Amino acid sequence: METILIVEDKKSMSEMLRKAFEAEQFAVKAAMTVQDGMVVFAAGGIDAVVTDLRLPDGDGMELLRAVKAQSPLTPLVVMTGFGSIETAVRAVKEGAYDFLTKPFDPDHLILIVKRALDEKSRQKENLVMRKAFSQFLSMPRIIGVSEQWCALIERVKKVAPLKTTVLILGESGTGKELIARAMHHWSPRSKGPFVAVNCAAIPKDLIENELFGHDKGAFTGAQEVKLGRLELADNGTIFLDEIGDMELPLQAKLLRVLQENEFERVGGTKTIRVDLRVVAASNKDLEQEVGRGSFREDLFYRLNVFRIVLAPLRQRKQDIIPLAHYFISSFSAEMRKQVPSLSAEAEQILLSSEWKGNVREIKNVMERAVILCEGPVLLPEHFAMEKGLFKETLGKEEPLHKVAAAAVRLAEKDRIENVLMQTHGNKSRAAEILRVSYKTLLNKIKEYGIV
Ligand SMILES: Nc1ncnc2c1ncn2[C@@H]1O[C@H](COP(=O)(O)OP(=O)(O)OP(=O)(O)O)[C@@H](O)[C@H]1O
Ligand SMILES: [Mg+2]
Repeated sequence: METILIVEDKKSMSEMLRKAFEAEQFAVKAAMTVQDGMVVFAAGGIDAVVTDLRLPDGDGMELLRAVKAQSPLTPLVVMTGFGSIETAVRAVKEGAYDFLTKPFDPDHLILIVKRALDEKSRQKENLVMRKAFSQFLSMPRIIGVSEQWCALIERVKKVAPLKTTVLILGESGTGKELIARAMHHWSPRSKGPFVAVNCAAIPKDLIENELFGHDKGAFTGAQEVKLGRLELADNGTIFLDEIGDMELPLQAKLLRVLQENEFERVGGTKTIRVDLRVVAASNKDLEQEVGRGSFREDLFYRLNVFRIVLAPLRQRKQDIIPLAHYFISSFSAEMRKQVPSLSAEAEQILLSSEWKGNVREIKNVMERAVILCEGPVLLPEHFAMEKGLFKETLGKEEPLHKVAAAAVRLAEKDRIENVLMQTHGNKSRAAEILRVSYKTLLNKIKEYGIV
């Protein structure tokens, strides 16, 4: 049964409407002032609101704003006396579903409310569908055939539906974020949000604000309430990426969230409770960080409840060719090209490569190869970009110092690319990690043609 809140100060009118709605199988709650109306609405369970515009303690616009702020999809219909039609029109502009001028036929009002409720449920369905669809799209395929990989996926599937905190460790590009997303996808929280926070990419002085949000007036410039990512992830999964880069004071604050599921916004006094599934990841050896005193031991144990370690690609060579095929066909589809096959020689090169950048590297190499390949077969020359470049830039008779300079350029380019990947393209953070000025980094990016 759907519940209608009627806010009307004239008792006889309110009672008349109550009877009319009840006769149509609605439940009715009544309030006589704006204040009352807000209290009843805030208590929950209201599906639609019908309000008079002129009330003893204010006008229906205030109520409209409060309702829309709390629950944007709840329809509100305004009743107005002759003479305040302009306000009623304004109410519709601000989000009221419709208005009626008194006197009106209650059946007409009921019709409008029913239509509004119908539209609301359709909007809701759309939202749910859109969300489900976007989640379907945002869950890329997971490829792997090696024994290690299959065993790992089994473990992931076992822990995914639980609320257990999971720590994912592995070298850069091994698929930590992919596994974290899969875990959310395979959990009963999959309809809730998946919120990722990259502790290495967000500047140090902003990360507390990003995680915990702030209250209005928390500091100069804080004009509005800002919800932190922890709050946004309520009823879903929070993915704390590169957790090893988090500073000690913030680690202490985070520990409390993990232990008590509550926190305060920056500058706030209200305690906020959240229901979170925590998945953390790091490419650092966290135990070693604990030993060095840069990671809190208590936080480490709180995170290390269930550990998943992703092996580097060079230790699971059977996955290399299936991954290569997968990326070749997905990039070909994206670029609307015919899917090329791999020559035997190309396969050999892929298998013997070290893949220091793991799956991400293989993905990047295949993207370039698909761009370069014109025929039906991928050949070694389509892959060997970096080494080819190195050889090309050096003639046969180059003096030793030129060889060294070329090697330095290549090594620097490689390192800069890796760090930029780690910081998701954040250049100022990359400059910090590389210990060069921002300007130097920009110059090198330009010089080496890094995109
Ligand atoms: N098994 C896999 N199957 C398909 N794609 C994968 C697989 N593993 C990783 N990838 C893809 O490789 C890329 C890198 O993976 P991901 O970002 O999850 O790595 P990561 O471990 O988080 O790396 P980093 O430590 O650098 O952040 C992503 O595009 C991801 O979708
Ligand atoms: Mg990652």
